[in-house]
Amino acid sequence: MIRFENVTKTYAGGATRAVDDLTMEIDGGKVFGFLGPNGAGKTTTLKLMTGILNPDQGQIWLENVDLLKNPIDAKRMFGFVPDSFEMFERLTGKEYLTFLADLYHVGEKERKEHMDKYLARYELEGAINQPIRSFSHGMKQKLQIIGSLIHQPRIWILDEPMVGLDPASMHALKQEMRDYCESGKTVFFSTHVLDVAERLCDEVGIIHKGKLIARGAPETLMKDDMVSTLEDLFLNLTGKEKEKA
Ligand SMILES: Nc1ncnc2c1ncn2[C@@H]1O[C@H](COP(=O)(O)OP(=O)(O)O)[C@@H](O)[C@H]1O
Ligand SMILES: [Mg+2]
Repeated sequence: MIRFENVTKTYAGGATRAVDDLTMEIDGGKVFGFLGPNGAGKTTTLKLMTGILNPDQGQIWLENVDLLKNPIDAKRMFGFVPDSFEMFERLTGKEYLTFLADLYHVGEKERKEHMDKYLARYELEGAINQPIRSFSHGMKQKLQIIGSLIHQPRIWILDEPMVGLDPASMHALKQEMRDYCESGKTVFFSTHVLDVAERLCDEVGIIHKGKLIARGAPETLMKDDMVSTLEDLFLNLTGKEKEKA
């Protein structure tokens, strides 16, 4: 469960309203896609819900823990895959995962189980003892994905996670997201890739210029707007004409 209440975040001394009075609640057991064009406010929202940034106003709850009042407890609730790599390049992949497992107090048996499973799934076993600085973009992305799940968090948050993944890893990730929410956990990811969102998400929210302009199941939103794709809905809502072929 994730809840935002009247959350606002500005930059440049108030000149940019990156997130503008955002209120929404996302239940567990669902894959939630947070959609919007470049600069809409997606990354800022994810940084607010992970405590990397503080809001100017508003409140955020993760599994009923108030993020601003109990940041340490709230931060234990989630795993986060950021859109950039802020990793320790000198560590090996294995050392990085071990570091995260230590940080989250994951037991020896569990951490081995999770590492073995995910390293096989994302075909990273061969590289795991190499330093991260030798990893390709896609390999780093996969390592971040595995690291974010090492403690099997209640809430899994991912910022543009499909970027840079090869087709097999993309497929594995989408399956992972579906499976992960089945036990009541929450999957929250941002993307501007609408056809993936349409097929993958139980619910989506569309953010435009910092404001939530639509929220619901993709089928319902498309039906209400009498369109057949999320792309058409998106273009209607953001006031853009589809390019004529
Ligand atoms: N650190 C920052 N300083 C100033 N402006 C920023 C900063 N980060 C983002 N912005 C601005 O806030 C808005 C939302 O950005 P962002 O949350 O990154 O959007 P998205 O992830 O949807 O592309 C944009 O106008 C962007 O230029
Ligand atoms: Mg972004």
